Amino acid sequence: MFSETAIRELEETKARYPDRKAALLPALYIAQKEFGWLGAEAYEEISATLGIPKAAVRGVGTFYSMLKHKPMGRNLIRICTNVSCMILGAEKVVDFLRRKFGLEDGSTTSDSRFSLVIMECIGACAIGPAMLVNDDLYGNLTEKTIEEILSQYS
Ligand code: FES
Repeated sequence: MFSETAIRELEETKARYPDRKAALLPALYIAQKEFGWLGAEAYEEISATLGIPKAAVRGVGTFYSMLKHKPMGRNLIRICTNVSCMILGAEKVVDFLRRKFGLEDGSTTSDSRFSLVIMECIGACAIGPAMLVNDDLYGNLTEKTIEEILSQYS
């Protein structure tokens, strides 16, 4: 069940758009903030609130890699391994995360501190290899800098 705060946010979002479908993506973010990820309950609640078929809600929700489709750790690391970042050393960064934290694509550390998702491009090609930790962008990653960066997240 959505909290009263989330219901209020959903209603405000719904009122902001003349077409309910336009409110779908913001609604999915509200649900993700509420539940931590998007599952059957979130899709049903959004479907009922916006009056959009559940299959359509789920279709949009599962399309975007920026949305979480299963429970994740407290901090989500998203690393780009597309061409620019790959040329600049993304594979070394991914290998470091595997060795240091036991992280594989889609996995979570046993203490739920980090989850890792490998992505195609996060729009930071000029500062590759690049990653997002939650909503914070970092670039020019090396083993040393990534260790310093991740030490800031508990
Ligand atoms: S290729 Fe890595 S951010 Fe674009």
